[in-house]
Amino acid sequence: MRKPIRKAVLPVAGLGTRFLPATKAVPKEMLTVVDRPILQHVVDEARAAGIEKFIFVTGRNKGVIEDHFDIAYELDDTLRRRGKLQQIEALKADMLPEGAAMFTRQQAPLGLGHAVWCARDLVGREPFALLLPDMVTSAGPRGDQCLAQCVEVYERFGGNVVAVEEVSPEETQYYGIVGIGEDEGHAFEINGMVEKPPKGTAPSNLIISGRYILQPEIFDFLENVEKGFGGEIQLTDGMIELAKRQFFHGVRFDGRSYDCGSKLGFLNANIAFALMREDLGPQLRAELKKLDL
Ligand code: G1P
Repeated sequence: MRKPIRKAVLPVAGLGTRFLPATKAVPKEMLTVVDRPILQHVVDEARAAGIEKFIFVTGRNKGVIEDHFDIAYELDDTLRRRGKLQQIEALKADMLPEGAAMFTRQQAPLGLGHAVWCARDLVGREPFALLLPDMVTSAGPRGDQCLAQCVEVYERFGGNVVAVEEVSPEETQYYGIVGIGEDEGHAFEINGMVEKPPKGTAPSNLIISGRYILQPEIFDFLENVEKGFGGEIQLTDGMIELAKRQFFHGVRFDGRSYDCGSKLGFLNANIAFALMREDLGPQLRAELKKLDL
């Protein structure tokens, strides 16, 4: 029996400089894909994968994230008096149970590896999920989302798991990349990792897609890892050290991801998610046709 994956870490301390001025006063994780904050989509994906406890690594100016997952008393009261019971129920469904959300702060923007390390005491010594909220994923034909597929592979093999996705060779320089051996299946053993390799040097076209299952020993390596790409403490560098002692599997997940950290990915996510909605899809499709594309 594997140790169950109960906790998820969500690093939400980033400044969102690529989205200024939208993110001057609003955390980038609270920008919406259709009518739900990006972060709500990611939390929903984690809940669907069985996650019970949510550890948010926040920073200054991120207070509304805490508010979002709490009761909004005045709003509830007003909606109740107006008889808007459906809306009350919808808000309730998005909330996290009492005690399920935990918050800790990353005090300086030292990199993703450092942000994850800040969650070490809240995670404790158990394997955990990590979801990067820049990435929003949609389910594949089987209906399960990326993290659920990672958990399934973890239950089969144990160790560490990262979701991967194929991109064009020109794009590999912007992501963490995994090396792959002979195995071409849905889940495969990773034989190397590199963070943002210079153009033309990537070991494959498979990017690390922002969903991970990690063993707690990662924290021991993150504590000592040197600054890497961009002068930041990189999670990938910690994983490279951990991979010398433990297995890492890659999952080519069914479904796709939208990199909401980029403007194009964010716009793409909004259109794709709206088109999937019964209440919006048909009308939006008709409106898009009217545009001079
Ligand atoms: C981070 C990771 C990178 C991963 C990417 C996915 O990079 O370091 O390995 O491929 O997220 O979005 P960042 O986007 O923070 O530069």
